[in-house]
Amino acid sequence: MTDPSGISSFSGASAAGAADACGPAATRGALPALSIIVPTFNERDNVGELISRLDRCLAGLDWEIVFVDDDSRDGTVDVLRRLSRTDQRVRLLHRIGRRGLASAVVEGILATTSPVVAVLDCDLQHDETLLPRMLERLLASRCDVVVASRYMQSGGVGDWNERRQFVSRIATGLAGLLLRAKLTDPMSGFFMIRRSAFDQAVRHLSNQGYKILLDILLSAPGGLRVEEVPYTFRSRTHGESKLDTVAVLDYLALLTDKAIGHVIPLRFLMFACVGALGLVIHLSVLASLNRGLGIAFVAANLTAALSAMTFNFFLNNVLTYRDMRLRGFWPILRGLVTFFAVCAIGTVANVGIAVVLFEQKYTWWLAGLAGVFMGAVWNYTATSIFTWRNTPPAERPEPAAADLLLQETAAPVPESSAAAPLQTAAPRQR
Ligand code: GDD
Ligand code: MN
Repeated sequence: MTDPSGISSFSGASAAGAADACGPAATRGALPALSIIVPTFNERDNVGELISRLDRCLAGLDWEIVFVDDDSRDGTVDVLRRLSRTDQRVRLLHRIGRRGLASAVVEGILATTSPVVAVLDCDLQHDETLLPRMLERLLASRCDVVVASRYMQSGGVGDWNERRQFVSRIATGLAGLLLRAKLTDPMSGFFMIRRSAFDQAVRHLSNQGYKILLDILLSAPGGLRVEEVPYTFRSRTHGESKLDTVAVLDYLALLTDKAIGHVIPLRFLMFACVGALGLVIHLSVLASLNRGLGIAFVAANLTAALSAMTFNFFLNNVLTYRDMRLRGFWPILRGLVTFFAVCAIGTVANVGIAVVLFEQKYTWWLAGLAGVFMGAVWNYTATSIFTWRNTPPAERPEPAAADLLLQETAAPVPESSAAAPLQTAAPRQR
């Protein structure tokens, strides 16, 4: 096989251990040297052009492309099916009832067996002509990951507006606080990684948000060796960006999980924050009804408690348990009733513990705090069993399009049209 890109192909030692399973003149059907993972959602007008461009810039290399589509509604899947029938390098992983850039990338990688994988957006914003150089760099330097960076000298963010540049800079700065390897663009969606390095990280991924590179870098126990190459982010000509402000929340969730997730589960932290907000609701309602309207304390307090619990239930449903969100009248009613029941027992436990400790001469605030903690742990554990966990999958309708990147952690078995055996990354329990 000729190699105009100047890469010494994948042959034994020159491939720095990455190519042990792959010969230089691999026949079709054998292991490709490079798998390119491309998440797609409504990219009908971009897929054909992307493949033609890869065809040109990767000439002489043995590669495959794995599109991971989350059931696009614009006909992307039909285009991909057609292309994969005529071009053996094109594979399609079609996921139904799922959304999420990061999980799409993870499952795309798991569906391949190549020693090296690249992750590339479908919308032609990433400069695919860099791929040969990235591969060369990966093999020559023995690093684990090569990242295409917008923030190196001679790189750039293209036509991004001030606001997006500002948000991206802040997010990059925050990531820098947690990263051991110092790199200019940990938020990049364009990178190449050795499969062996990905495998080190995969079982520790937070699966929060869409910043899969950052998740991988923060999840590999021994850390990964990273190098960067500059590129300029191009403008999109077809389709539109899928990332919205919800992605910012997901990003903060990822960082929080990576920073303290091993001490306090992220889900518990969210549950506790929602609980604290519920306390504010309770006191506000109580004050308005009792102080403001002169309603009897017992009635006002009961109304306040019911309001706070209802508020907490709905907020937990869209935030804390967004990946297993209850929808539809009956599931929500059942959820609400079990939530009320669990919280009622939690209140009894809370008060009980506090009274017992107070009687044992513990100071009032310590006794109170212990009660609140016990109540919170009970509520969290019991609602995760009775309110959200026991929802049969059949009762969870397909996520709405607006849920966008909120569905990262759900993991029903995806549908695959790819021939290779498929593993699914089960979300880590939080
Ligand atoms: N399967 C799947 N599921 N694909 C998705 C989803 C999803 O829920 N959401 C987006 N995609 C696909 C898009 O179709 C596109 O191919 C790619 O993921 C990137 O999505 P965009 O919506 O175009 O993202 P962006 O341009 O705003 O941001 C991208 O570039 C940044 C800079 O490199 C992303 O790659 C960011 O992660 C990255 O930081
Ligand atoms: Mn894009």
